[in-house]
Amino acid sequence: MEFKIIKKTPLYKAFSELGKRIVLPDGIFYWSGRAKKEAELIGTIGAAFGYENDFIDGGRSEWVPCYLEDIKNYTQNLEITDVVPYASIAGLPEIREVWKKWIVKKSFYDENTDKEKINKLKKYITTPLITSGVTNGIFLTCAMFLNHNDYIISPNKRWGNYDNIITKFLNAKIKSFDFFKNNKFSIQGLRDSIIEISDVQEKIVLIFNFPNNPTGYVPTWEEAENIIEVLREAQNSTGKTIVVLVDDAYEPYVYKDEVMNRSIFYNLQQLDQNIIPIKLDGITKELLMYGGRIGFVTMGLKPKWVKNDDELEILKSEINNKLEGVNRSTISNCNHLYQAITYKIFTEKGMDKIISTREKVRLLLKARYEKINAELTKIDSPDISIDPNSGGFFLFVNINPKKIKASEFADYLLRKYKVGVIPIEKEDANINGIRIAYCSIDLKQIPEFIKRINSALNDF
Ligand SMILES: Cc1ncc(COP(=O)(O)O)c(C=O)c1O
Repeated sequence: MEFKIIKKTPLYKAFSELGKRIVLPDGIFYWSGRAKKEAELIGTIGAAFGYENDFIDGGRSEWVPCYLEDIKNYTQNLEITDVVPYASIAGLPEIREVWKKWIVKKSFYDENTDKEKINKLKKYITTPLITSGVTNGIFLTCAMFLNHNDYIISPNKRWGNYDNIITKFLNAKIKSFDFFKNNKFSIQGLRDSIIEISDVQEKIVLIFNFPNNPTGYVPTWEEAENIIEVLREAQNSTGKTIVVLVDDAYEPYVYKDEVMNRSIFYNLQQLDQNIIPIKLDGITKELLMYGGRIGFVTMGLKPKWVKNDDELEILKSEINNKLEGVNRSTISNCNHLYQAITYKIFTEKGMDKIISTREKVRLLLKARYEKINAELTKIDSPDISIDPNSGGFFLFVNINPKKIKASEFADYLLRKYKVGVIPIEKEDANINGIRIAYCSIDLKQIPEFIKRINSALNDF
């Protein structure tokens, strides 16, 4: 949008710097809007869809957003007190406690062999604060750590909304590095960025997102260990505090055995150094409730910060107060109804049952992930490459920019082949490619989807 008219009005002159800076970027909305109208095969929608009878026993043969079977039961017979009153600023206490237990469950630590780790996890994390979706958790934590012009480090391929929150809203800066080198996480890129930022800033702030949007990348255990080693080295050599925002929006959707099956938050939380992980997760994808807008912010604490358990409790309540301050001054508090539904699912159904019913959706997505990767290997072109991917909802196809610009390719794909994808093009960050949201493409359509992409590539 060019804002031609508004800029001439007194309204614009009266805007704050933020009011002048902020925009709704049209990339994803533009391409998904066009795909809805023009495409036969749509790979733009970042929400899991399927035929209801593929993931619900006795379901219909309709194409609907994937959901957990029991959601319907919990939306009936809710007490008026579960719907009408304000929820507390930090969220309903009972749900915060349940989510803390859920975080422990998601660590997959073994009760027998990992007892010490479990105890450290339970004791040295804050009680999750409830935010309005993961987006709001990202905003809140970035606002807590980034002043105007401060840097946060991130791989170059990332969820586009980070740029909006960080650069447009907060007027801070992103230090990008190339995500991959030789099809592996670029450890050198990470190390160089940390060195560069530690020269100009008293703290080092990073944001990671695995499984990643838009690439689907999940680190192998070895890659994760290398990432952690770089952080450890940097902390030891600079003495500077490192804050790691861990965006776990797609946490449960991992499809390969060799990669990490849990968030990197857990490894970081166990470290004794001042490497502070903050977990950002939510019901959006984990419980398949996109419209629920319930997210959680959970901070990992270090034993050496306090002298005893009393101090630890005081520290937790002080942190909580600060986070509540941001909630109060932005959203005030979150939607009560969905907090109540979340609580009911956990208490009436239980964690194991949630995982087992969700497994149908995970397996549906896993089959698509395997199929689309297999089909992509059939494209014999030196001008494309697929980023390493093992989870989440998407994958990313890099296109040689000398052959064609991603947006031109997406436009051509849509017009000639009726296929919708999201192009991502950032010359200064070495990105030219298309994101395919296989989470919303039926398995049977995948071969045709890739065949059309192949044909389009051959046209140039
Ligand atoms: C990487 C990533 N983080 C966060 C979000 C936002 O999650 P929510 O809908 O809970 O705000 C998304 C949604 O697309 C995402 O892709």
